[in-house]
Amino acid sequence: MAKLELRNVTKKYGSFTALDNINVDIAHREFVVIVGPSGCGKSTLLRSIAGLEQISAGEIVVGEQAVHRVPASKRGLAMVFQNYALYPHKTVAQNMGFALKIAGVPKAEIDQRVNEAARILQIEPLLDRKPKALSGGQRQRVAMGRAIVREPKVFLFDEPLSNLDAALRVDMRVELAKLHNTLDATMIYVTHDQTEAMTMADKIVVLRAGRIEQVGAPMELYHYPASAFVAGFIGSPRMNIVPATVEAVSDSAVTVKLRDGTMIDVPVEAGQTRKGDGVSFGVRPEHLALDTTGTSSAFEITVQVVEPLGGETILFGNTSTGETIVVKTPGEVAVTIGDKVKVAPSQPMCHIFDSDENALKQRARGLNGRKVQ
Ligand SMILES: Nc1ncnc2c1ncn2[C@@H]1O[C@H](COP(=O)(O)OP(=O)(O)O)[C@@H](O)[C@H]1O
Ligand SMILES: [Mg+2]
Repeated sequence: MAKLELRNVTKKYGSFTALDNINVDIAHREFVVIVGPSGCGKSTLLRSIAGLEQISAGEIVVGEQAVHRVPASKRGLAMVFQNYALYPHKTVAQNMGFALKIAGVPKAEIDQRVNEAARILQIEPLLDRKPKALSGGQRQRVAMGRAIVREPKVFLFDEPLSNLDAALRVDMRVELAKLHNTLDATMIYVTHDQTEAMTMADKIVVLRAGRIEQVGAPMELYHYPASAFVAGFIGSPRMNIVPATVEAVSDSAVTVKLRDGTMIDVPVEAGQTRKGDGVSFGVRPEHLALDTTGTSSAFEITVQVVEPLGGETILFGNTSTGETIVVKTPGEVAVTIGDKVKVAPSQPMCHIFDSDENALKQRARGLNGRKVQ
């Protein structure tokens, strides 16, 4: 069993707090993605787990053992970095087996583990090649192979795909998900890319300036972001968030008024805000639809940019009060730059954030037939 617990983990560099009281429970076999903007502390957290950094306070527990004072090599963890340096003069097989050789593992066992890892990663035909005769994706696989042969209790990945081109990143994402299933291993994966987080994670930890902003399953974060920060970070294109005022509060909804005067009922729980409060209204681009039927909550935008992507079209427009609004519509639409169009929000999918950027609690709603609390 390789569960991992972070308890009150704090890391300071002098007077600068890089990690501030981090608490996360990671279950055996869970795939956890730590996501956040550059500089928020992702690598520091992973390096602290690996034992490459000494934490200033708190505990790190792997299985039943507190490991934060145990040297990196004894923690039973293996890390794959963004900049994985392979030994240029060694073959793929030698690169993969090197750590085991240093550790004094018998040759027959090294060969057996290297062959098994190569089979899992589908790089068996490459075992005798040198790194310079490999593509970027193949090198990345070798770097993962080096981790797999060590049979770690937990795999740690620090932005391992960010040096690959876009198409290869998509392929490797799928490979990693398969690998996770095959190995039955606990994995902690760090990235600044919300798409990687959404597609691979069982659980996402959103980090902001050294603190945890929210923890949850991908769809929980997408549907119920706890703050404007998470709302803006998860989902692409990012959520539209514009200033508004609370116009009325009832048992079933809060009515907000946009600056252009549009009234929108948002089904959040009562008792969290009052008439007259300054708030932000949030709606994702995919929850806005072109409206020709005079829906009362529709508002007008002037189209600035049209991005036809084939399967969908992204419109960028401005409201009459100057806010930028992004709309994602399925298929092709007959809209050109300069057109004034009305867009209607899907009200159950809208959000309100208070003046501290915290989300008002939504009423529970069914999502794709599954109720998320
Ligand atoms: N050795 C160090 N000394 C001082 N500050 C550091 C050190 N390592 C990282 N930091 C700072 O800690 C913060 C988090 O860094 P890092 O964990 O690398 O961020 P991320 O991986 O999320 O981009 C940054 O502000 C960075 O400058
Ligand atoms: Mg980093």
